[in-house]
Order: sequence, then structure tokens, then C-alpha cells
Amino acid sequence: MAFLKVNNLKVYYPIRGGFFRRVVAHVKAVDDISFELNQGETYGLVGESGCGKTTTGRTIMGLIKATSGEVLFENQDLLKMNRRDFNQHRKDIQMIFQDPYSSLNPRKRVLDIVAEPLRNFERLSPAEEKKKVQFYLEKVGLNPEAIYNYPHEFSGGQRQRIGIARALTLKPKLIIADEPVSALDVSVQAQVLNFMQDIQKEFNLTYLFISHDLGIIQHMCDRIGIMYRGQFVEEGTSRDIYTNPQHIYTKRLISAIPDINPENRENQMKLRQEINSEYKNSYDKYFNAEGKVYNLKPISDTHLVALP
Ligand SMILES: Nc1ncnc2c1ncn2[C@@H]1O[C@H](COP(=O)(O)OP(=O)(O)O)[C@@H](O)[C@H]1O
Ligand SMILES: [Mg+2]
Repeated sequence: MAFLKVNNLKVYYPIRGGFFRRVVAHVKAVDDISFELNQGETYGLVGESGCGKTTTGRTIMGLIKATSGEVLFENQDLLKMNRRDFNQHRKDIQMIFQDPYSSLNPRKRVLDIVAEPLRNFERLSPAEEKKKVQFYLEKVGLNPEAIYNYPHEFSGGQRQRIGIARALTLKPKLIIADEPVSALDVSVQAQVLNFMQDIQKEFNLTYLFISHDLGIIQHMCDRIGIMYRGQFVEEGTSRDIYTNPQHIYTKRLISAIPDINPENRENQMKLRQEINSEYKNSYDKYFNAEGKVYNLKPISDTHLVALP
């Protein structure tokens, strides 16, 4: 049984226009994607800005309505559930947001921020609640005495830890992390990522890890799906993607990861130029007449590529 299985998911945003605000067109933000998560793994969803990553994550969370398709969580379709059953499952899926500056209400104290999911789902006495919040603050490496402080009193990395503590309070099984470190200083990013790996083991979490940056997810993810304009162009294990990328779009993303070794910079520039010219010259090989990607086809047990 798959832990999470997304089948033929489509999410189209209506665009309204004219005097009667009729729907005049649609943005096909997610256009027929299918993928699976195994329990305990980290699955990376990657692609450039606007390709539909956030829409995918928020639709799985139930924050955006799907146009069609299925989201099977432990074999039950979240998209077809009634409110009550859905809320029960909502406990198991939590989200960590991109911007720790705007995702924490500046007028609320840490206690109220972290306790928010608890208050929605559990009836705890104030003392029990405080104890639980302090337990999770300590887990994420913050001073448990900080419960009466406000978000602005913390650094970006600390705020993201507050967001993580909030996500953990209901003991979720799946965490959707949407660009969790993109808003943080580079020096803090690695700390938060390492920390996310530590708690993954401790709490047996499955991650759907969303990022526009293949470099960042290189060390985080077991498997990776590459998105392009609402579709998948490639999926594979980290090894498949990094050592044997097949789609030209994947190759472009990989060649854009800055090489830390300065001696390799020149080679990397050359490689980048080659890939960019291949991208221009062999467009037909990778995209159909409408500029859409082809359906995914397996080239090994783990590796799928969108080719004709
Ligand atoms: N509420 C919305 N209404 C209309 N279009 C939207 C809305 N949200 C996102 N989009 C569009 O959907 C596409 C996918 O957006 P998004 O899921 O945010 O991509 P990503 O997270 O990969 O940057 C983009 O073209 C974006 O402009
Ligand atoms: Mg996004």
C-alpha cells in the first residue's frame, strides 16, 4: 500500500474577465501529475518558479481545490472525503511554509502560535498545553522559556524552528515543506536542513520537500520529481537524477548548481553552454508540437523520463 499516491492530479485556476467576471481562461498550474511517496522517505519536488510546486503541496493539504484526480493518503482519497473524515486526516499532514517572517502572526506569542493546531484538534488544559508547547520548543532547539515572546524577537532560522515546532505538535506522519529554507541566510540553511533530517528519524516523518534549487535538495531527498510547467519531465532516485539525468530540462537545472570548487568553474561554464545550445537545438526531441512534455516512460525500475 502506498503511503501517499497522487493520481492524474490537475489544478486549473480560473481567470475571470469582462463585465460579468466570467471565466475566460485557465492557468493550468498542475496539469496531470502522478507520483507516490513511501513512508519514511524524503521526496523532492523541484522545478523553476511558477511550475506548480506550491499548488501541488497546497492541494494535497486541502488548501486548494483540485480540478480532477486523486490524492490517496493511506489508501483513502482526500479529495472525496467529507469534512469530518478529512479533518481527521488533516492531523496527519502538516506544512512548513517558505517564509518564516510572514507565516508567523507577529501579534501572537510563541505559545499561541505553536499551540494553534493543538487547539483545533485536542482539548488540553492550559497547563497541559503549555507543557506540550515547551516540549516541542525544546525539541527544535529553542529555549522553552520563550513561550511568551513574539516572533520579531527571533532570527529567521529560529522562526523557522518555531514553524517546525508548530507542525510537530499533532505528531503528523507527512510534512509538506514548501521551500523551507529559501528565505534564510545560506549560513543558516544547512543547520535547518540537518535539523529536519534529525527530527525525521526521531518522529518517523515522511517529507514532501519542495524547492526550486536542485543543489539544496541534493542531500535531503531519496527520490526526486522534476516539474516543468505543471507536468513532470523526470522522476528518479537522487542517484538517477544527479548522475544520469536524461531530460534536457533536468540537465539544465543540474548544470546551474554552482560548483563549490573554483577549479571546476571553467568546465562548468562550458557544460552549461553546451546544454543551453542542446536545449535550443533539440527542443522537438523533448517537447511536442504544443510545447508540452511527453508522458513519463520508465527507463529503469526507479527512473522515469518524459520522452516521445
Ligand atoms: N491563486 C492563483 N490564481 C491564478 N493563478 C495562480 C494562482 N496561484 C498560482 N497561480 C499560477 O499557477 C502557476 C503555478 O504557481 P505555483 O504553484 O505557485 O508555482 P511554484 O510554487 O512552482 O512557483 C503559476 O503560473 C502561477 O502564476
Ligand atoms: Mg512556490
